[in-house]
Amino acid sequence: VARLAQGDTVKNLIRVFFLQNQLNGLGNKEAFQFKHVHVIGGGIMGGDIAAWCALKGFKVTLQDRDPKYLSNALKRANQLFERKLKTTHELNQVIDRLIPDCSGFGVSHADVIIEAIFENIEAKQAIYKDIEPRMKADAILATNTSSIPLETLCTVLEKPQRLVGLHFFNPVAMMPLVEIVKMVDTPEHIISQAASFALHLGKLPLPVKSSPGFLVNRILVPYLIEAVTLYDEGCSAEAIDHAALNFGMPMGPVELADTVGLDICQSVAINLSNSYGFNVPDILNQKVQQGLLGKKSGSGFYGYKKGKAVRDNDADMGNQSEIQNRLVYRLLNEAAACLREGIVDDKDLLDAGVIFGTGFAPFRGGPLNYANSQGSESMIQNM
Ligand code: NAI
Repeated sequence: VARLAQGDTVKNLIRVFFLQNQLNGLGNKEAFQFKHVHVIGGGIMGGDIAAWCALKGFKVTLQDRDPKYLSNALKRANQLFERKLKTTHELNQVIDRLIPDCSGFGVSHADVIIEAIFENIEAKQAIYKDIEPRMKADAILATNTSSIPLETLCTVLEKPQRLVGLHFFNPVAMMPLVEIVKMVDTPEHIISQAASFALHLGKLPLPVKSSPGFLVNRILVPYLIEAVTLYDEGCSAEAIDHAALNFGMPMGPVELADTVGLDICQSVAINLSNSYGFNVPDILNQKVQQGLLGKKSGSGFYGYKKGKAVRDNDADMGNQSEIQNRLVYRLLNEAAACLREGIVDDKDLLDAGVIFGTGFAPFRGGPLNYANSQGSESMIQNM
């Protein structure tokens, strides 16, 4: 017990506890009150954000192009409510709070508007142009974009500085982090309001600089790309995932790419590759072209049966330590670049963002903490 209580694992887990407190302290929940949230886009993210907001007590209007696009969102919302709530009374109340609203009547009443339509600049801008004149003067206008800089999106607004990023992660109900994406001239009170709103939702707010991929995707995508490159070089999916799981990741990168959807990985990777100069491996483009989109299409890097990846128990596991180093060092390298570029304010916030946004092995205390514990000499020798 004495040995365990003094080891690195316990020190790092205590560190994670304090990092969580630090994120909670980045906003003041009581400073702002919100009643009505309007979500535009009832897809995977918009639908789940709307359901989560309703569960947390907000009145929510949910808008999409047509009612038919909302049926899946409402089905998933009901499943969430049934999982989380015990009494029929509570269930009825929360169902009443989530209102389908394809005409967008909610826009003029909402305290917070979250846009979560597909990742397309023109489509998002058309929404902002349409709704800005109808919004309450002090309502928050937020986007859930995962990779488009706010500076690009906000140009069509009369008041461009009012656009803020509320970047939730998938699945919304499970992932504790929300990146609060800010531009250089975003007013402080908008950042505070957005952070307060995240706390009202029981999420951990992390202010990040608006730049392609923000913090979490900027770090995660090169790591996924490295996994796909290893696959392209002949490593088995099983070997790559095993090396990552052994490091302490909650899911291997190949299975993660399949779960997110290879089309989504491809589009985010293309966006980021333009900004950061890496290549998207051909094998990823080929899979998408062939319609092998991962779990949702039944096949990607793995085949899927009843939603579960089919693994080859006899797969060649390759050189596990080399695979692990290549995956992890790519992630550490990008984390160091984010720190240098001031994407977040300091290294503790960076570690917190990567742990709570990706599930990075918590017992290692975050990527920069891990790099520090290894020392640059030893990492250079391993490369
Ligand atoms: P999705 O394709 O599942 O849903 C988009 C929804 O927007 C569809 O239901 C579509 O009908 C609706 N829509 C399109 N144009 C519209 C319009 N003019 N008015 C109203 N509704 C409209 O997309 P998903 O995955 O939910 O992504 C939404 C946003 O969230 C994107 O910006 C994406 O980058 C971001 N995001 C996605 C994550 C993911 O894991 N899928 C994670 C974090 C952010």
